[in-house]
Amino acid sequence: RTDILMTAPMMPIVVETLEKACTLHRLWEQPDQEAFLKEVGPRIRGVATSTLYGRLEASLLDRLPNVEIISSFGVGYDNVDAAEAARRGIVVTNTPGVLDDEVADLTLGLLLATLRKIPQADRYLREGQWLKASFPLSTTLRGRKVGIVGLGRIGKAIARRLAGFDVSIAYHGRTQQDDVAYTYYPTVTGLAEACDVLIVITPGGASTRHLINADVLKALGPNGVLINVARGTVVDEQALIEALRSGTILSAGLDVYEDEPRVPQELIDMEHVVLLPHIASASVHTRNAMGKLVADNIVSWVEGKGPLTPVPETPYKGRQL
Ligand code: GLV
Ligand code: GLV
Repeated sequence: RTDILMTAPMMPIVVETLEKACTLHRLWEQPDQEAFLKEVGPRIRGVATSTLYGRLEASLLDRLPNVEIISSFGVGYDNVDAAEAARRGIVVTNTPGVLDDEVADLTLGLLLATLRKIPQADRYLREGQWLKASFPLSTTLRGRKVGIVGLGRIGKAIARRLAGFDVSIAYHGRTQQDDVAYTYYPTVTGLAEACDVLIVITPGGASTRHLINADVLKALGPNGVLINVARGTVVDEQALIEALRSGTILSAGLDVYEDEPRVPQELIDMEHVVLLPHIASASVHTRNAMGKLVADNIVSWVEGKGPLTPVPETPYKGRQL
């Protein structure tokens, strides 16, 4: 049986599926990880890890010289250095496709919650304030122009939903896509200038770090609303806090942060932001589908059938156990 290492607790379906086909080792349960890695490390052929639990360090990979596959929970895989894995001949897989609709649904929910102040209104009622006065009027989605930063699978699922709200849609990405009718802006600042809602759903990692900076927020303007369901690193959080504080933009809805699960107190203290704890894909249905795919990638590899969803940096070249 093939030895597989799990770096963090995951859904029961991951464990159940892997244990049918492999011998599973739980790293976080080892009282002495050094001793464990020394003894078992060289036998490990696959790693199951999660973008929800921090980075998979190269120093850990050094202890696993015979790893062939890293299966990561989540569509984003900035938790794994895929270029380094490629150099080591390791295939990396993620969980694309199975969460697009769930994340897009949540994004629309967060957008409406932010514009119409739904969480604030709930707090208002619970605090007994309605008995004294009506809830203050909110802003609206009516007549807005929405810019999507990153028109991948999830970005397109968001755009499809927005079409039902009768707003105009534009996007920014590395390249213009011939098969979509939305207006393309080659720079994110240009998009922000043209729009008053910006939805960020681009991959994380070094190439998008602080893509949304003070200049972009200034371009978004005093009526502007920022929604981030991508990665905390894509937005310069300090610049965002400053922009929210000074009225450079109107409000923000965030599902992700630079140093999760820590959220800056400045944001927590603001009434004009809606803050979610990284839940865009977090329904039982979708987390099970993602977990199943994490396990199925490894099982397929172990059975010699190759990975199901390798990331572009580590294309499958026919190597197998
Ligand atoms: C992964 O299975 C998780 O939900 O953390
Ligand atoms: C979660 O953030 C994911 O990348 O799936």
